[in-house]
Amino acid sequence: MSSNYKAKISAVGHYLPDYVLTNQELEKMVETNDEWILTRTGIRERRILKDPDKASAFMAAEAAKEVLEQRKMDPEAIDAIIVATVTPDYMFPATACITQTIIGAKNAFAFDLSAACSGFLYALETGSNMIESGRYKNVLVIGSDKMSAITDYTDRSTCILFGDGAAGVLLEPSVDENGIIDSIMHSEGDMTQTLIQSGGGSRNPATHETVDKKMHYIYQEGRPVFKRATEGMADVSVEIMKKNNLTGDDVDWLVPHQANLRIIDATARRMNLDPSKVMINIDKYGNTTAATIPLCLYDWKDRLNKGDKLVLAAFGGGYTWGATYLKWAI
Ligand code: UT7
Repeated sequence: MSSNYKAKISAVGHYLPDYVLTNQELEKMVETNDEWILTRTGIRERRILKDPDKASAFMAAEAAKEVLEQRKMDPEAIDAIIVATVTPDYMFPATACITQTIIGAKNAFAFDLSAACSGFLYALETGSNMIESGRYKNVLVIGSDKMSAITDYTDRSTCILFGDGAAGVLLEPSVDENGIIDSIMHSEGDMTQTLIQSGGGSRNPATHETVDKKMHYIYQEGRPVFKRATEGMADVSVEIMKKNNLTGDDVDWLVPHQANLRIIDATARRMNLDPSKVMINIDKYGNTTAATIPLCLYDWKDRLNKGDKLVLAAFGGGYTWGATYLKWAI
């Protein structure tokens, strides 16, 4: 079954925990300093979900409630919920099912999607194709990650990078030219070991040994990931621009995954984009994995105009990467 419409983002919501973990506080925890963190990453502070009884589903549900409130939509009208996360509440069942129950979306089917920092873009691609199929009208796409749950706060090379948060969008059919126009998604599994949480899955089920070896924390080899991320995010952004005959002047906003300010700057340069057109909030939230891109959309939503041309781009563990071109529809 095909349809005549594309998907559009019709509302954006978010959730950020209150606790602010500053570079100054990290200086007291590990051998680091504000200047190193700021110049190497662009991060000043990040949010941490301190309540041990709350996790990714709670944050996803808070973001979803804000989306529904904005659109004045009954939760029972939601057809599907996709939660992109690498920090699910449990190995199973899906965080999306827990989210569904919290918000009362009892007619939805709900599932998680695992694509690390590209999770939101992969979920947007999945959700928009569900709308385009004509079988679904209202699809919630949320990125939610409680990165503090898998961060080793004695490892200075990773603990300075990550933060907690969630944000998401509602996808609905578009009847005009605005909406999600195109996307290019990539994966490459041969560098898996450079960015991984190796303990707790079926390969290395939890044992005293996996815990002693800290295998339940993020492990990252920063330099090779940095190199591939810089190439991957810039290449795919330029690729989607060429495919859609866009120049740097045509693009109104780059909405980049927020892993490192240097990666974002390199991508914007390759796109020939004026720096004023780049959404950057890494200074406030750090890397919230699947939440970075929708958190940018949330922070900038009052400055966006209907018809604005946005390129969304991400790179993450897997590796996974991609870019989406859309015309803002709100
Ligand atoms: O979001 C998913 C994808 N992830 C990414 O895109 C992250 C990609 N990687 C990066 O962003 C960067 O590689 C990092 C920010 C993680 C690290 O920056 P870097 O410029 O690549 O630093 P490096 O790992 O090459 O380390 C340079 C030096 C090392 O010291 P020596 O060996 O030169 O003496 C590190 O030990 O900086 C040291 N270092 C630190 N110093 C102070 C590493 N972490 C810290 C720290 N504070 N927190």
